[in-house]
Amino acid sequence: MAIISPSMLSCDFANIHRDVEMINNSQADWFHIDVMDGVFVPNISFGFPVLAAMSKHAKKPMDVHLMIANADPYIADFKKAGADMLTVHYEACTHLHRTIQQIKANGMKAGVALNPHTPISAIEEILPELDLVLIMSVNPGFGGQSFINTAIEKVSKLKSIITAKNLKTLIEVDGGVNLETGARLITAGADALVAGSFVFGSANPTQTIADLKKL
Ligand code: DX5
Ligand code: ZN
Repeated sequence: MAIISPSMLSCDFANIHRDVEMINNSQADWFHIDVMDGVFVPNISFGFPVLAAMSKHAKKPMDVHLMIANADPYIADFKKAGADMLTVHYEACTHLHRTIQQIKANGMKAGVALNPHTPISAIEEILPELDLVLIMSVNPGFGGQSFINTAIEKVSKLKSIITAKNLKTLIEVDGGVNLETGARLITAGADALVAGSFVFGSANPTQTIADLKKL
């Protein structure tokens, strides 16, 4: 049974409170929160005030995925806005080790996201420091894109490294997740699934979360 982290990027922003309560009352485990800056990715989503508003009502951990060019100056602010887990992109961090130490020093779990083109080997040295690795199964920036199949092999490769090194690092996958891709990802070794449009675009999001939970 995987951890399910619905992506609030696909919620109804005019009804954020209602959608946060839907997640609170569902079988979802985390809230996935996508922060985009228009620099690292070609889209802008939302920032601290929206995050703080969500976290005021959220009764489950806030899994914050930063798609921003310069995370370092804002780490403490993300904690203040309610982040429990903070994931930065490998491709956006020159001094990744320092960034990870800062996230932990601020009392959050630390994650690193890998774009579809970035190999697992890029994070081999830092893996023991990480609470989670976020494998991107789409190019970051937008919800509703189709799943890139090479993510499956990346998950199984990463899973065998984590098992061989006896680490507790979680594998989370983000982009194009539905019942079909979700089932294949779990078989490959994924611990957590992010799902945005599949959950919020469905007729009954609570039931869709329950269906993902059954995989
Ligand atoms: C994309 C974001 C995702 C997005 C996933 O850059 O990181 O979290 O919300 O959306 P779906 O599940 O629709 O692919
Ligand atoms: Zn995301």
